[in-house]
Amino acid sequence: MLHVMIIGAGAIASTHIESYLALKDRVSIAAIADVNLEKAQRLMDDYQLNARAYSDYKEALRQETIDIVSICVPPSLHCKIAVDCLHAEKHVLLEKPMASSLAECDAILEAAQSAHRLISVVAQSRFISSTYHIKQLLDDGICGKLLYSQAYSVWWRGGCYYDLSWRGRWETEGGGCTLNHAVHHIDLLTWMAGMPTEVTAIMANLAHTNSEVEDLSMALLRFENGSVGQITSSLVHHGEQQQMTFQTERAGISLPFDIQCSKSLPNGFPEPDPLFAEELSKKYHSLPPLKYEGHTGQIDHFINAIENGTPLITDGIAGRNTVEVIMAIYKSASTGMPAKLPIQKDDSFYTQEGLQATVPHYYQKSKSIDTQQPGKISLASERFHS
Ligand SMILES: NC(=O)c1ccc[n+]([C@@H]2O[C@H](COP(=O)([O-])OP(=O)(O)OC[C@H]3O[C@@H](n4cnc5c(N)ncnc54)[C@H](O)[C@@H]3O)[C@@H](O)[C@H]2O)c1
Repeated sequence: MLHVMIIGAGAIASTHIESYLALKDRVSIAAIADVNLEKAQRLMDDYQLNARAYSDYKEALRQETIDIVSICVPPSLHCKIAVDCLHAEKHVLLEKPMASSLAECDAILEAAQSAHRLISVVAQSRFISSTYHIKQLLDDGICGKLLYSQAYSVWWRGGCYYDLSWRGRWETEGGGCTLNHAVHHIDLLTWMAGMPTEVTAIMANLAHTNSEVEDLSMALLRFENGSVGQITSSLVHHGEQQQMTFQTERAGISLPFDIQCSKSLPNGFPEPDPLFAEELSKKYHSLPPLKYEGHTGQIDHFINAIENGTPLITDGIAGRNTVEVIMAIYKSASTGMPAKLPIQKDDSFYTQEGLQATVPHYYQKSKSIDTQQPGKISLASERFHS
């Protein structure tokens, strides 16, 4: 039995608790830590957990037998807390984004390597059957070369979303919708299409006046193999009709699941290729559904890696890759020039301080509250169920 501590008892903590409870024959929650002790205690009461609440996670690290730590605190605290937990020889499941700079991602990777412990960055959309199966179709090679990839990560948030104190500040949130919302879609894009070598972007804050950060960015990507891509990140899209699209030589495949296949008429105009569409669709529907989806799927995968040494598909390198694409978007949008990847250590966009000195600060935050009204939150992974 593996023992878990959850650090941060806010909005996403319940999702972690429910996932660990779904796997309770292999893992047990030993502690919840939050600087606001009442919040940790409330979660323990709500879920009737036989665990201890702490206001200081370091005290829990000293007092409890813990194998895994789930880190569910605001992004600017990810690096410090992850490094502390890794130095204490715990395996770490770190909420997205991995950190708010590449320098911090590298500090986490170094701590994991020197402690010989695993780090997994939450990318729960990879553990949705539809997503997982599209990755398999693309990897299979049957569709031919990947030509164009698109992530359309569009959300809608009211102005009061940014009243929460850590949101809407470059220093504490690390960025806007590109870092904190599109992170899920950008993770899927890098997983399926690989890393771009050049990014050209623009960004703006169109509708959130209690926030320094962007609420919209649009980026064009160039990949080493010549293929291209596009990412839209937004908090101003009514209806949140999110989509991922992959155009290959023989088919266009989308999430939520859709397949379109064209072949050429003698004059070059398209006609549908229903036979190939049918073949692909059959292949997709014949793939077995994942046993666990979303956070539970990722935690199951993480436990397997800890117990059996199976390779992690959501490791620290994957988490860092996503942050690197996002930093390239910020760099290009702030400088008005294409940004080359990889981003070097002497680049100002390698550190949070360098980023903060260069990015636009759209509005000064005038309202700040410590806790938001409890209520439903929406998760990216919910969009991709077919
Ligand atoms: N995977 C997803 O779909 C998803 C969804 C929502 C949030 N998140 C991520 O989860 C993280 C937390 O977001 P949230 O919405 O739950 O935020 P939240 O503000 O609701 O909760 C954060 C909690 O961390 C606590 N905290 C702050 N500093 C702490 C410290 N030093 N030690 C212990 N606790 C501390 C706060 O008191 C608060 O209870 C963020 O990184 C966010 O991006 C992920």
